[in-house]
Amino acid sequence: MSKQAILLAFLALSHYSVCEPNLKLIQAHVAPSKVRIIGGDEVVPHSVPYQVGVKINGNAFCGGALISSNYVLTAGHCCEVINSVDVILGAHNISNPSEDTQIIISNNEVKNHEKYDSATLRNDICLIQLSESAPNNNNIQAAKLPPSSDSGRSYLDETVTATGWGLYKDVPFPTTRDMSDVLLKVDVQVSNLTECGMYYNDDDTTYVVNTNLCTSGYRNKGTCNGDSGGPLSLDGVLIGLTSFGTELCEMCSPSVYTRVVDYLDWIAENSDVIIL
Ligand SMILES: *[C@@H]1O[C@H](CO)[C@@H](O)[C@H](O)[C@H]1NC(C)=O
Ligand SMILES: *[C@@H]1O[C@H](CO)[C@@H](O)[C@H](O)[C@H]1NC(C)=O
Repeated sequence: MSKQAILLAFLALSHYSVCEPNLKLIQAHVAPSKVRIIGGDEVVPHSVPYQVGVKINGNAFCGGALISSNYVLTAGHCCEVINSVDVILGAHNISNPSEDTQIIISNNEVKNHEKYDSATLRNDICLIQLSESAPNNNNIQAAKLPPSSDSGRSYLDETVTATGWGLYKDVPFPTTRDMSDVLLKVDVQVSNLTECGMYYNDDDTTYVVNTNLCTSGYRNKGTCNGDSGGPLSLDGVLIGLTSFGTELCEMCSPSVYTRVVDYLDWIAENSDVIIL
């Protein structure tokens, strides 16, 4: 067998096993069926003041982004089965509840996208309406949304930043205990969406579509379980929400995000955010 054939066989195998799209939410007691930051660093504390933590039913964890004093954006797959959702604002070490910058808001309402599809992960976007207004201070601030004039923009090759408290390495059967205490960031390049689709889509299911953004996994950089719903930022503007990746995070695969600019109308209709 030639070397090339072995390589292809490995690729085919990996495509059908470890490379199945994987939702990047973390569940405490089960292996995530469904994204630390991989290959990144600790942020300057509170330098991403719109980053929030979203605790679902007391045990699952997602990221999110504050977009006004009353609303948080997260991923649709973080809002699938919700009994309770607590939003943690102003955190750096999220494992340290006595951090005096942190505020936890409970009893929040959730509005998932009407066309969120758990099978294809289409429209993976959800709004959380806070039960009380978030303060506005040095540690807690709403993100800037992209202008509607960005709607045709591919962001291709631009350097963007993903942030979260998710896994920073692959571990068997990860739980929330394996997540990062401190907020991490990774700078990555927006990659070619067609090629990203070739990586994830198969004959049965089209996962990557025009309402997604992908970032390159080159040098093993990207998002991992627990980062879901969290921000992908370009110069402090919220252009994406972490959506999915491969089941194992450390395989240089592209990370996939919901493209926020495509949902500005939906956000305006369902929140108090005014789109410019
Ligand atoms: C985060 O806070 C927890 C609880 O106080 C502490 O055990 C842990 O060492 C802190 N982590 C870091 C990286 O400072
Ligand atoms: C994206 O990749 C496809 C497939 O390789 C290629 O045909 C296309 O020209 C690329 N697009 C850009 C903008 O580079």
